[in-house]
Amino acid sequence: MKIGNFVTQGETFLAPMAGVTDFPFRVICKKYGASLLYTEMINAKALSYGDDNTFSMLEVKPEEGDVAVQIFGHEPEYMAEAASILSDLGRFKIIDINMGCPAPKITKNNEGSALMKDPKLAFSIIDSVKKTSKLPVTVKFRKGWDENSINAVEFALNAEAAGVDCITIHGRTREQYYSGKADWDIIEKVKKSVKIPVIANGDIFSIEDASSIIKKTGADAYMIGRGSQGNPFIFSQIKDFMGGNEIKEVSDIEKIDVMLEHYNLSIKYKGEDKTVREMRKHLGWYLKGMYGSAKMRDDINHINSADEVKQMMRDYRASLTQND
Ligand SMILES: Cc1cc2nc3c(=O)[nH]c(=O)nc-3n(C[C@H](O)[C@H](O)[C@H](O)COP(=O)(O)O)c2cc1C
Repeated sequence: MKIGNFVTQGETFLAPMAGVTDFPFRVICKKYGASLLYTEMINAKALSYGDDNTFSMLEVKPEEGDVAVQIFGHEPEYMAEAASILSDLGRFKIIDINMGCPAPKITKNNEGSALMKDPKLAFSIIDSVKKTSKLPVTVKFRKGWDENSINAVEFALNAEAAGVDCITIHGRTREQYYSGKADWDIIEKVKKSVKIPVIANGDIFSIEDASSIIKKTGADAYMIGRGSQGNPFIFSQIKDFMGGNEIKEVSDIEKIDVMLEHYNLSIKYKGEDKTVREMRKHLGWYLKGMYGSAKMRDDINHINSADEVKQMMRDYRASLTQND
């Protein structure tokens, strides 16, 4: 599949996730097999104003390979300005527009998934971004706003007509947020309706899910969000599955090693304070389901020293080796 000059054979992408897909996690996902990586969503207006915090979210490391940057907003002029700035940074392969975020603080401003209710504004944004972007432009959206306004196929066709290079569809309505099952039928319908590449998204948590969504939708690529949390290995496992290779199971000890690797990477790039706070959720995800890890997960949420957290992980690793 080709999006502009981005070509992928790996075909499994890391979804944009606010508060999750910062560069340490992206580096880890890349190492364990993700093809294209997405940043957290970036506020186009804040970027246009040169906000330092927003710029700090744009850091990319060479180990990441191909990275798509996602922007959100509702004002075509700021979206266009952001696209111009991001094109000139020279760090990104693709600019993705967020038209799927369900969070009220976003939708109340007519941003994210609210744009599915206002197609005129949505396509004016696409048009403006296309005019200033030197990179391929893609759009990520949902099935529709709610069950009474399912418009993914029409929205996809209009986005294609407006010149986007690829679309990603998450098979849920805004009203569903992340609940219920993602509807892969709608993804199949969208795929059959447009000529541009379609990335399928929603509820890929295992090789079996990947196999089913590939068969069901015939999409050009697959995007994984929550299934990668604490489980970046899912990318290489799917790659092996698709290549007909043996799928390597990951032991708890290997998971802890990657957890430590992720933690050290975060300390190196973000410093101790940020790491201790920001890595808590990641550690909880890695440890989920591991024997006797409940107390440790709880303790991690109260410890403020990175060295102490790391020592805890090493002790826990040692206890697992003894139980082997
Ligand atoms: C914590 C979290 C943050 C998210 N942030 C974003 C975001 O910034 N931009 C976006 O387009 N989607 C965002 N999403 C949605 C995911 O990209 C994805 O569409 C959704 O989780 C469905 O895929 P999954 O079933 O593989 O998780 C987020 C999801 C989660 C769970």
